Formats: sequence, C-alpha cells, structure tokens
Amino acid sequence: MPIVHSRPRRLWRRTIRLLIATTLVTSVPLAVADSRAILEGERFHPEVGAHGMVATSHFLASQVAHDVLADGGNAVDAAVTAGFALAVTQPRSGNIGGGGFMLISDEKSGKVIAIDYREKAPSAAYETMFQNDAGEAVPRLSRFTHNASGVPGTVAGLALALDQYGTLSLAEALAPAIDLAENGFPLPQRFVDGIEQARERLEKWPATRAKFFKPDGSRYDVGDIYRQPDLAATLKRIADKGPREFYEGETARLIAAEMQDHDGLMTREDLAAYQPTIREPSHGTYRGYDVYAMSPPSSGGVHIVQMLNILEGYDIGAMGFNSADTIHVMAEAMKRAYADRSKYLGDTDFVDVPLEGLTSKAYADELRAEIPLDQATPSTEIAPGKPLPYESNETTHFSIADDNGLAVSNTYTINFSYGSGIVVEGAGFLLNNEMDDFSAKPGVPNAYGLIGGEANKVEPNKRMLSSMTPTIVKKDGHNVLITGSPGGSRIITTTLQVLMNVIDHDMNVQTAVSVPRIHHQWLPDEIRIEQGISPDTIALLEAMGHTVSQQDAMGAAQSILIDDGTFYGGADPRRSTSSAMGL
Ligand code: GLY
Repeated sequence: MPIVHSRPRRLWRRTIRLLIATTLVTSVPLAVADSRAILEGERFHPEVGAHGMVATSHFLASQVAHDVLADGGNAVDAAVTAGFALAVTQPRSGNIGGGGFMLISDEKSGKVIAIDYREKAPSAAYETMFQNDAGEAVPRLSRFTHNASGVPGTVAGLALALDQYGTLSLAEALAPAIDLAENGFPLPQRFVDGIEQARERLEKWPATRAKFFKPDGSRYDVGDIYRQPDLAATLKRIADKGPREFYEGETARLIAAEMQDHDGLMTREDLAAYQPTIREPSHGTYRGYDVYAMSPPSSGGVHIVQMLNILEGYDIGAMGFNSADTIHVMAEAMKRAYADRSKYLGDTDFVDVPLEGLTSKAYADELRAEIPLDQATPSTEIAPGKPLPYESNETTHFSIADDNGLAVSNTYTINFSYGSGIVVEGAGFLLNNEMDDFSAKPGVPNAYGLIGGEANKVEPNKRMLSSMTPTIVKKDGHNVLITGSPGGSRIITTTLQVLMNVIDHDMNVQTAVSVPRIHHQWLPDEIRIEQGISPDTIALLEAMGHTVSQQDAMGAAQSILIDDGTFYGGADPRRSTSSAMGL
C-alpha cells in the first residue's frame, strides 16, 4: 500500500520524538497552558501521543491517522492528516474546497475550543442573488452554479489546528494525502456507486468529468487504482508554500479563473481575505456530563444543548430505548428546537442570537411544560411553515483521541455529495455548494427542508448557517465521548441520539452508533425513522397523532468512547468504508 510507511522509518521517527520529549520532560518541565492559552491559540499540548483511537468514514484515512499516532503524533496531528487524506479518498465529502468545524478538548488545561473554518459568502454576494425577477427562490442557482460556492475554509482551518495544537509540519500532515493522490489507491464499491448515482452532475463540467471518469469517458470499477494528478499537484503546492498558497498563490489563481470564466462572484481578494476563527463552543450539562458542541455559525451546539435540557426532565433510561414514549418526547423536543432554529440562528458575527436564552434550563422547563405526554403537538401550532421533502446530502465526521488527554471532533463538508459538482480546472478538487445553506429567501426551505429566517439571509462575507455538530462530552474533567455526524438537518438529532444512547441507555459506543435512529425537524411534521422501529411502536406513535415515515438511513456517526482510560471506537455501519482503529 503506498501510504503505509515502512516500519523502520516509523520507529526511527518515533524514537527521535520520544528522545526530544524525554529531554523536554526531564530537563525543562512542560508548561501546561493556562485557561486563556487555548483561546488565544498558543501551542498547548506538545507532548507525544502513543495510544489512542481514530474513527473516520474511510479506512485509508483511519489508517494514516492511526500511523500518525503510532509515530508519536498527537490527536490533532492525526486529525489534520485524516482531513487531508479524506479529501483524496472520499471526494464526495472529504475536501479542500469546502469548510467545517473542529472541536479540540485538552484535559490538561481543561479547555475545549472550536475552530470555525466554515465557508464565507464572497464580498459581492447579495440578499436576492438566488431569486428570480419575480422574487422567487431558484434552488438551481444556490446549488449547481459557480455562485453556489462559499469561499473555502478547509485548508486554512486544518493548518490553523496543526500550527497551534499539533506537532507535525503541514508538509508532514499532507504527505499521506499527496501519496494517495499521486500513486493512487484501489477503489471501493462505495466510491464507484457514488459516482454512478451522481453521474449526471459529474459529467456536466469537463474538469469534473476528467476527475471522475476515465479518459475515454467510461466509469471506474471496484479495485481500479485511482490517481488524481491535479489534486496531488495542488496539495504539493500547499505543502511547499504553506496554507496561504491556497488563498494567494497558484491555487487561488486557478479558483479565481474558474469563477471568472463562469460568471462566479468569488474573487482572488475574497480568497486572500479568508481567515478561520477560534470560537468558544456551546456548552451545556446533561445528567452530570459536560457537553461541548459547535457554536454559531452552526446551529448544532445550541440545539443539542436545548434538546438535552428538555429531555433531562424525563427519566429516559426508564422509559426505554426507542419506546413510543421516548420517541414521542424526543420528537416534541426536536420540533421545538428546529422551530427556534428557523427564527433565531445565523452567523453571530452579523446577527444577535439569543444563545443564553436558547440553552438555558429555565427555557427548556417552559418548553417541556408545553409537551403533553400522550399527544403530538402539530407543528403548525408551534410555528407556521411550508414543508418540502428531504434530499440527499453528504458531509463527513471523524473523531480522534490520544492518551495525553487530547480529543478532536471534526465535521467538514462541501454540502451535497460532490458539492456543486464543479471541479476547479487544473486544481483537481470540487467546489462546495454551501451557499444553499443560506436562506435564499427567508421562509423558503433549503435542500434539507430547513426553513431559515432573516438571521440567515445572504450577506457579503457572512458564514451560512450550518447543522454540523462536532461534539465532545466530558465527565469530571475527562474526555468521555467524541462524536458527530454528516446528514444535513439530521446531523443534530443523530448526534443527540448517540449521546443519549450512551448516557441514558448505557450502550457501548458501537451499539450507540449502530442502532436505529429517528428524526423530527418541525417541518415537515413527521417523525422520520430508520428501519428497525417495531410496528407496535409506530402504531402507538400514530395513536398519539404523530405521522411516522420510514426512509433511508441517517448519518454516519464515527465515534469514540473513553471509559476509565480505555478507548472504544464506534465505526458507523451506515458507510461501508467506515473504520475505527485503536492502538
Ligand atoms: N451543509 C450542511 C451543514 O452545514 O449543515
């Protein structure tokens, strides 16, 4: 396999790191950063890692992240390496043309920080850019054109994480991805199926066709060695010149040229101005656990805390896993949270979001008091709306932890599977269609049927609202659960259920990740379920007035549980390439 370093080299590198670390420990005691250090972005965790766990949606990304830990890197080193590797091995969602969020928890300082590398609207973006002359939203414009793309944040975000909290150089973290892109890897079934499902979109643009199909236009087969020379060259430029190359160098020139050739608004100035941001995550408590999840511009953390606050008032463990009573109160909590999302949530750099109110226990008490125990509240009585069907989506989450108390929860995306479907000519990567996460017109649902309000209207340089919910749960100061998921609007409820399965239902992490999930997002007014909810339960829910709709599987919650110093990985079986590896 091209990506596996030879054992002697790994051992040699590891020996050098251990020698350095030993020298540091014995001669100059390592300073543990004080509480402000992480928020200010100082390097805070320079010790080497040795043991840990990685869980990603692609076994090759898990392998290279595992190798980084085995070589003595820490969880951030492994996470950044996995992030770049996924951009090569899983281009439907792994990316350098999109953005995301990374939570980092350091037990030693007690701090949890969030890196926001969400895309931004170009500076020439305007409120009505996805509407026609009659003022109606035109979904095609925000999904499948060059203007569907926000300014990508992934390269800057991963580089920031590495620079501030890792021990590897950017070139070292990029090396496995470059190797995979240049020398190729054998294609798994999921990759081949994904291209077939998106064939129409991927055949439209010449550079996309060249990336995803053979030179004669035929499809790749399972086991074919898949090479991406343009992407390898882009990654090499970033490795040689640093992350600003993407924003100010040849890669920026290629993106700007792609935009100019197709009336896209994004410019070289937009790229040069892009910076990721370090934020404080949303924080709440649930039955004695501390829950940290992504703050705005994601809605995920706010609403996971809000739903947990509501659900804390019920004895969920006694009510039972996926019993009708439990699903009923979960659905009622979900409806209320998603109704609030539609009104209040947006980029806090642009709008005031009542974060304290939404996440307060008192507000949850008020909401809970409205919930009858035996009857569904119609969504129209919670707030008005106009449902649209769900659509497919793709994002990817990975979780990594090491035995020095460092844990990383990362979710990143180009929005739909294969984003806008547009590969940057000469640069070999897909552009996101994240602009669809803005409200094209307040009150009109996006691709996930999510209604947005004024707070999430399109504005220049603004970050579009997200549902991505990378989450870290701690108990008594220790990292316990690292989780998150793809799934568009279902991200928040998927993550919620992994957490409840562990805390309320005492499941091991693999069971917590695997068991059937449910989802309600206020509009459409239905409980969406996966296979595996019993007909008796469905009948009881319908008798309460719920509409229940069984649809495709939801999410892929690659998760880690740490119990008394032992790491357990939960790879989500909903993705055939998922892989958790411990060492
Ligand atoms: N693009 C999906 C999300 O950010 O929620």
